[in-house]
Amino acid sequence: MHEVVQDYYGKQLQSTEDLKTSACCDISNMPSWLKPLLANIHDEVLSRYYGCGLVCPALLEGCRILDLGCGSGRDVYALAQLVGRTGHVVGVDMTDEQLAIAKQHQNYHVDKFGYDNVTFLKGYIEKLDELNLDPNSFDIIVSNCVINLSPDKAAVMASVQRLLKPGGEFYFSDVYADRRIPQHLVNDPVLYGECLSGALYWKDFERLARHADFLDPRLVEDRPLEITDSLLAAKIGDIQFFSATYRLFKIATLEDACEDHGQAVIYYGTIDQLPHHFNLDKHHTIETGRVFPVCGNTFRMLKESRFAKHFDFIGDDSRHYGIFAGCGDILPFGHQADIVSGPFVNSGSCC
Ligand SMILES: C[S@@+](CC[C@H](N)C(=O)[O-])C[C@H]1O[C@@H](n2cnc3c(N)ncnc32)[C@H](O)[C@@H]1O
Repeated sequence: MHEVVQDYYGKQLQSTEDLKTSACCDISNMPSWLKPLLANIHDEVLSRYYGCGLVCPALLEGCRILDLGCGSGRDVYALAQLVGRTGHVVGVDMTDEQLAIAKQHQNYHVDKFGYDNVTFLKGYIEKLDELNLDPNSFDIIVSNCVINLSPDKAAVMASVQRLLKPGGEFYFSDVYADRRIPQHLVNDPVLYGECLSGALYWKDFERLARHADFLDPRLVEDRPLEITDSLLAAKIGDIQFFSATYRLFKIATLEDACEDHGQAVIYYGTIDQLPHHFNLDKHHTIETGRVFPVCGNTFRMLKESRFAKHFDFIGDDSRHYGIFAGCGDILPFGHQADIVSGPFVNSGSCC
């Protein structure tokens, strides 16, 4: 599959316009704070953006970030501005043509930003151990529409677990399906190259994440994908695809379910650009100043990550009150966020 994908992204596609589906590239929801950062990025880099989501979580200054399947480098150069001169962003990709564009414009971005804080490496995301990256050395690993293209997703997840610092997170956008994809569709080079037929069935993704010790994957946002090309749509039939962004924290004490220990957090409102609320995921919009009941896993994600100093933490896990209400097991995509803004405001869905 590597050769098929290298050919697709190195030779078949010349720009975003050549894509046959909307699987990649949704710029409709781009936040306003991102626009000036993208305006600093070279046009040729932007023209070869093939991502499917936004991989810029909050609070990045000074962070060390790894971008898996960085392509021509759009996200690397956006993140480079967010981590600033004290941070660093490493992009890895296997396709020469994509990396050539990323590297060709490196000096342009050094001049624009006033510092040089990016590195591009050629490599396979299933073989990150060949790149001499130190274990436990990245605050955040991102990836934008790439994991679906990998023939060995378990190897990728294992490397991510190894390379993240404790408390770090894998924050990534990808394509998922509502069921397992039949092999004859996986073998179709265009469906695969367009980021569709390599997509994981969402429940299998959760299993894979848990197997790699990411015990509580959190869905941040999602959107259904429209297959606009009629030939591709006919092949796909009734399979539904979604673009989704997940965050997986490397925290050894997470449990495999959301347990209720009677804990709560208070957000201070101290993260730049987030004075009113903090979004952990699709089900946790934590308003500034409010006492916000959380399960044990959410408590730990906030307390043992870079977010800790922006929260007050109430309680500990010495008592147990059962399962946290609404810890569900149904298709997580496709509906508006059920915003939990306080105790018992709605179903109290946790994850
Ligand atoms: C859909 S594009 C996304 C590129 C980039 N993330 C962006 O947002 O523009 C997929 C990229 O992942 C790279 N890629 C796919 N599978 C890979 C693998 N196994 N190892 C390294 N790179 C891979 C491809 O070369 C291509 O540049």
